[in-house]
Amino acid sequence: MISENDPKIWELYKKEMARQEGGIQLIASENYASPDVMAASGGILTNKYSEGYPGKRYYGGNEFVDSIETIAIERAKKLFGAEHANVQPHSGSSANMAAYYALLERGDKLMGLSLDEGGHLTHGLPVNFSGKYYEIIPYHLNAQTHLLDYDSIAEIADEQQPKMIIAGYTMYSRTIDFAKFRKIADSVGAKLLVDMSHIAGLIAGGAHPNPAPYADVITSTTHKTLRGPRGAIILSQEQYAKQIDRAIFPGLQGGPFENQIMARAVAFNEALQPSFSDYAAQIVKNAKALASALTDLGLVLVTGGTDNHLMLLDVRNRGLTGKEAQLALDGAGITCNKNTVPNDPQSPFITSGIRLGTPALTTRGMKEGEMQKIAHLIDDVLKNSTSAEAKSKVKKEALALTAQFPIYKNLRD
Ligand SMILES: Cc1ncc(COP(=O)(O)O)c(C=O)c1O
Repeated sequence: MISENDPKIWELYKKEMARQEGGIQLIASENYASPDVMAASGGILTNKYSEGYPGKRYYGGNEFVDSIETIAIERAKKLFGAEHANVQPHSGSSANMAAYYALLERGDKLMGLSLDEGGHLTHGLPVNFSGKYYEIIPYHLNAQTHLLDYDSIAEIADEQQPKMIIAGYTMYSRTIDFAKFRKIADSVGAKLLVDMSHIAGLIAGGAHPNPAPYADVITSTTHKTLRGPRGAIILSQEQYAKQIDRAIFPGLQGGPFENQIMARAVAFNEALQPSFSDYAAQIVKNAKALASALTDLGLVLVTGGTDNHLMLLDVRNRGLTGKEAQLALDGAGITCNKNTVPNDPQSPFITSGIRLGTPALTTRGMKEGEMQKIAHLIDDVLKNSTSAEAKSKVKKEALALTAQFPIYKNLRD
């Protein structure tokens, strides 16, 4: 009973629960995991050491854990049609690290989308391990359309002859053509790594094309659109299975978090149910509805809209920076994150945009009608960002809206 044994922590936890329940949650990489997923994540598997893999562990007492991890592996393979799955990575970053470690040598050329245009830190930030250990070759979005420019990616690949090309982003609101990436990778003999962290839930639910037929290796977090526990997986062709497994253990990690692996197994089972396709399709419908309502209100979206779960709003036409917009929305109970826009004159700490995503609101049952209302609330805040009164009015409306879509009502007390 944390409430009795550690009331200080419990009070803060309750406040966070109220924030998650009462706020309008638009962070594109967040979601509401099911109570089953959270129960597994916080369960007794926390106690077990299981270094190694099912059937080959360094500790005794793993007979049940072995079966749980095997089920997680089989479900992950089935969900994405992959030949091999490693379900042990502690996070998306360690999954990427392991994939590079397995398939590249130090100093090899690694080609990914420039970070200020949507790539992830692990795709080449100079102070990240990726930027330190590999020679990063950035590719860019088309300067006019801000879409992936496959011709230019092919040209850069031809010039630079990278060992690996990454497709998959932290911020890209359009469909990725994995077949085109495969062709480019083949033309220069590069490996194709798809980092599907953001869109894994859409892929599992059939709302985005699946990279499995094209990629050598796929990495993914499990806590974003996929709606599982925090952590990650690596999927690959069978030919890379040994290298990938060795890169995770003993290459990078010790004991796997079997509690999180059990929670991943539970989440994969949820994602294998037919209702998950409805959820994935609704995420995209909601994103399109939010994007078009915001556009109707005169707000500017990079690429003009979205095909997936997220969108990038350029807030300069409201006289705001991304940081100011994020803070103003936070003050009105609407949570999102500041984000650079293409050719952003501001630093990554300030930015000119905000990233909005619909997975969490979709999980709590909201549909296109609610997206219309939320677009108006966002517009009200951005128009009156310095008015405490306006923000407090929007906050009341936000609370009234989220109260109609309770998410953890059975867990509250
Ligand atoms: C595309 C992509 N890859 C990898 C990661 C890293 O995941 P984690 O935060 O679990 O290390 C993220 C997280 O935001 C991401 O967006």
